[in-house]
Amino acid sequence: MKIEVLPLAPAELRPKPTDEKALGFGRHFADRMFVMEYASGGWRNARIQKYQPFSLEPSAMCLHYAQEIFEGLKAYRTTDGRVTMFRPAMNIARMNRSAAALQMPQLDPDLFLRALKDLVALERDWIPTTEGCSLYIRPTMIATDPFLGVRPSDTYLFFIIVGPVGAYYPKGFVPVSIMVSENHVRAVRGGIGASKAAANYAASLAGQAEAKKAGFDQVLWLDGVSRKYCEEVGTMNMLFVLDGTVVTAPLEGGTILPGVTRDSVLRLLRDVYKTKVEERPLPIDEVIEGATTGRLQEAFGCGTAAIITAVSEIGYQGRKHKVGNGGVGPIARKLYDDLVGIQYGRKPDPFEWVERVWP
Ligand code: COI
Repeated sequence: MKIEVLPLAPAELRPKPTDEKALGFGRHFADRMFVMEYASGGWRNARIQKYQPFSLEPSAMCLHYAQEIFEGLKAYRTTDGRVTMFRPAMNIARMNRSAAALQMPQLDPDLFLRALKDLVALERDWIPTTEGCSLYIRPTMIATDPFLGVRPSDTYLFFIIVGPVGAYYPKGFVPVSIMVSENHVRAVRGGIGASKAAANYAASLAGQAEAKKAGFDQVLWLDGVSRKYCEEVGTMNMLFVLDGTVVTAPLEGGTILPGVTRDSVLRLLRDVYKTKVEERPLPIDEVIEGATTGRLQEAFGCGTAAIITAVSEIGYQGRKHKVGNGGVGPIARKLYDDLVGIQYGRKPDPFEWVERVWP
């Protein structure tokens, strides 16, 4: 399918933020977006047009039953001025898995990749140049049938919006405190925890609020059945370093989001650093015991938005437990430096993760 590029008048171009240090996350959006519609069993009308409000029926199904999925990835301005993306094929494949899980239509991976590249190339002047800043890309699919019965919609809208972002956390690369939620869970076996479904993020808000109220930055989720095993942290995958071995929750149970950063981190750890990695259910009791005995050397979250977030302290059952010396540990620091180095073209890209966009 051809992607039509609709012209924008010079007067329609908006001023770009000038202070890259004050960008924040998810507040600014570029001039153009990609849009296409699904009806009668096929996608149509692929176009890059002005970023503007949609007109939706108040009865549109996405507004009622959360049949909505999204993705998050970034485009970078490399140190030598090129424009790249990081492992977009993984986001494309995950979006199609999320679509299948929520009974939504599949996207043609080639068209999806072209849409990403064409949009980012057209909007390249919106990409910040400061390292640590990038162009965040948010592909989204929503159900649009004007209907209140509960069933999969027959019509959908797929769109991609992009915007310049700085660091996800306003405090920068500083460790955060996390609280283990004993009242809330993020996902259960047989549910949609492995999908990037908007509903998962709505389900996370109460647990996050509970942690904030107790004075912590983020929430650590336990599994939804035994409430015993560590799953994710906030909106990120979670890793622990116990006696030099990196341990993270396995994907098999279907409750963990298969993160692109998670996969990249595990690859670097196993194949480049030759660090021992275990993907296994990790009891919170083992983590707390490790914090007490000193076996727990580091704990950190990873995701596209924040890349790596070190954890300084874990709250559990009303007590606080310090992780390592409470600072950013050497493994978290090295992973951050290497990932950012690869993304900005400063370091070799041994796994060919970097996708050329422009020129
Ligand atoms: C990420 O870590 O990339 C996320 O999933 C956060 C995003 C929903 C803002």
